[in-house]
Formats: sequence, C-alpha cells, structure tokens
Amino acid sequence: MIWALFFMIVSLTTSDSLENKKIPSVYLRPKPKARAGGADDVAAEVFSFTFTSSLKIGNKRDSYTLTIGVLMQDIWITELDCEKCKIVSQAYDKTVESSVDLKKQSVYINDYLDLDIAGNVYEDEVIIENDYMTRANLSVAYKFIDTRNLAIDGILGLGVDENSVVYRMYVDGVIDKPIYSVSYLNSPYLVLGTPNFLNLNLVVQSQHEISFAQTIKISYFSFADYTNYEPCDAEINSLSSYILGPFEAVFKVLVNEGCHYEEELLMCECKGVKYPSLNFTIQSQTFSMGSGEYLITLGDNCFVGLKNSKTWILGEPFLKSYFTEYNLDSKLIRMSKVSALEDDLPSPLETTEGWTVIFSLCIALIVIYILAFFIFAKYEDIKKKQVLIARDISLMKKKRRIL
Ligand SMILES: *[C@@H]1O[C@H](CO)[C@@H](O)[C@H](O)[C@H]1NC(C)=O
Ligand SMILES: *[C@@H]1O[C@H](CO)[C@@H](O)[C@H](O)[C@H]1NC(C)=O
Repeated sequence: MIWALFFMIVSLTTSDSLENKKIPSVYLRPKPKARAGGADDVAAEVFSFTFTSSLKIGNKRDSYTLTIGVLMQDIWITELDCEKCKIVSQAYDKTVESSVDLKKQSVYINDYLDLDIAGNVYEDEVIIENDYMTRANLSVAYKFIDTRNLAIDGILGLGVDENSVVYRMYVDGVIDKPIYSVSYLNSPYLVLGTPNFLNLNLVVQSQHEISFAQTIKISYFSFADYTNYEPCDAEINSLSSYILGPFEAVFKVLVNEGCHYEEELLMCECKGVKYPSLNFTIQSQTFSMGSGEYLITLGDNCFVGLKNSKTWILGEPFLKSYFTEYNLDSKLIRMSKVSALEDDLPSPLETTEGWTVIFSLCIALIVIYILAFFIFAKYEDIKKKQVLIARDISLMKKKRRIL
C-alpha cells in the first residue's frame, strides 16, 4: 500500500519534472541553401534542400554559411584574397589573435563532384549556429575549385572519427553521444546527439544499419527487369544534389516508360505515373527508392535526380528519403525510413496561444452576458413603463367616464 503510494508520487513527480522533457541533443535547423542566378521560387525550393549551417569563426566572430559534409573530415573555408578560390561571402583572416597555425597541410579531391581543394590547418574558436562554442581545426584553402558551386562559403565536415568537431562536443559534455544526423522531411535539419524521433514529430517505419569502418560498396542494384551484379564503390555525400551511379540502363528503361531528354535533363511526368523503384544492396542491406524519391519536382515537371558516373555517390535524394545517423564511436550509419507524425498540432491546452484564445473567449462570453443582461433589464424597464402608461391611460379613461 505504502509502496504503491510512493510509486504514484514518484511517477507523478517524474512525469511532471522539466528534466524529463529536456532533449539530450542539440537541434540545429540549417537554413536552406540559396543559389545565385535569380531562380524563381519553385526552382529555388527544389535546389534549396542542401544542408547548410551557420558558423562564427575567430575572436572577431566572422559569419560563414557552410555546406554540411557528412563523413567528411575537415572544416573548409578560404583564405583572404585567394586567387584560386571560389567566390565566397566570408574569407578567413589568419592574423586574428585567436588563430593558431598548426603548420599542417590538408587536401580534398573528389573527381566525381569536381572538387579540388588544398590548404593549411589553423586552430581557432568556432561557434556553431550561435549555440555552441568550441575550438576546432580549420582547413583554410589557398585553392578551392568548386565548378558546380556545391559549397557556399565552405564545407562543414562533420567527420568520421575522434577528430570531428562533433566528437569534441561530446567530450566536452554538450551532447550525450558522438552522433550527428541529417534529415530532410519537412525542412532540412541537423541533429547533434541521440535523435529523439518523437520530439522531431517523426515515426520510424524501418531501419537499416551499415558500417563506415569498412568500405561502402553497392553489391548489386536492380531497376525494373535490369539487374547489375558488378560490385561498385559508393560514398554517402551530402554535397551532391544527385545520386551518381552507372545508370545508362536505368535511363533507357525510363525513356521506354515515356521520359524524354530536354537538353541534359531527363524529364518525366510527375502526376499519376509511377516509375520502377531503384533497389540496391549495401553490406547485405537492401535499399529501395521509389520514383517519388529519385524524381525532383520543378514546377509542373519532374526531372530524374540520377546522374551517370562510374562510382556511386548517394547524395541529397538519398538523404531526403532516409534519416541518416552517423555514430562516431560505433562507426555505424543507421538509416531510417520515417514519416511525419500526423497529429503534430499541439492541443490548445498545451500552448500559451491556446490558453490566450480560451481566456479571451471566456471574457467575451462574460461581456456578452452582461450586455445581454443590461439590454434585457432595459427592455423589462420599458415594458413596465409602457404597462404603467397604459394603466394610467385606462385609469384616466375610467376617471373620465366617472366624470
Ligand atoms: C588539431 O589538430 C591537432 C593535431 O594535428 C590536435 O592535437 C588538436 O587537438 C586539434 N585541435 C582540435 C581543437 O581539435
Ligand atoms: C524493389 O523494392 C520494392 C520495395 O521493397 C519492391 O516492391 C520491388 O519489387 C523491388 N523491385 C525489384 C526490381 O527488385
């Protein structure tokens, strides 16, 4: 009996305590990537789902917008007055007080994405999304060739090991686990620490796990009747707006199904048509992407978000269809198919706005009641007066008769 009471009290206090509602992760909602070129709103939306994050660097707090690079080692920015670098809105001044030259070189080359970057490493203060300050190693480019403009002011490499800025946040006790996740369902976001799907209003439908301790390979893939059994190297890269792979046969199938080329783009019908799904296997896990996931909508048209390449790069269309978590300790990537929680609107009693509305309604009702009462009272008053007048008149008439 006493135990039951004790248990009740404990459960009551824990369910109501703030501690219980605290999220052990840092949630960042990176701003959409804005592309230059005056594209209309629809096009801007299509191209805008690249994950970016804002960073302040150095004791002068210069602001950078960096494209998020999952499984990429370094944080890349460009040095001041760099002739071989892409155009950026902010470049790094190595003469600031907080900067330390580590006398180290850094290089990143990706032929498939036309990226060719080289620089020197500096250690400096970094503030991520105005939220968390730490020191980080920054690769400051003296050469930053980015033909397709995939990076904005640079790249925020979230890393693969203990050298990651996310691992540093974990060691400092800011996040519960050295895990980062990216997702794009309603809007693009980055989660640092263990993701809480419920707090993100997401429901998990299925999950896969692959390891990035070993090389990631596509063992085979299929599309309609076509199957390719040649193992192929693959990488997951959030910089790429497409999925790259050996897709000649896939494009042939799509053309047979009614898609057509408009210059370089393979355009398809968006509405009422279903195309085959692209199925592929990594480390014995099978992934499936429906046409709704590999087609990119552009106004009333859709184009195929797949590009031909010798090796696979799982870019944004893939990261849009799977919620991916990168665990820097276990070296596992957990990929979840998720859907938005239907009933994500809080009940009126859960928000101050809700309470304000209810309170105002009550006040309004009281005011209406008081007004109605006064009008009624007034009406009764007038009725009484009229009766009195009528009585007076009849009295007067009667009196007259008497007279
Ligand atoms: C930067 O790299 C050096 C090794 O090159 C390492 O000792 C140092 O801890 C790193 N700094 C940060 C902030 O990660
Ligand atoms: C691909 O996967 C989907 C969903 O798992 C399945 O319905 C479809 O039959 C598969 N297609 C091929 C060609 O294996």
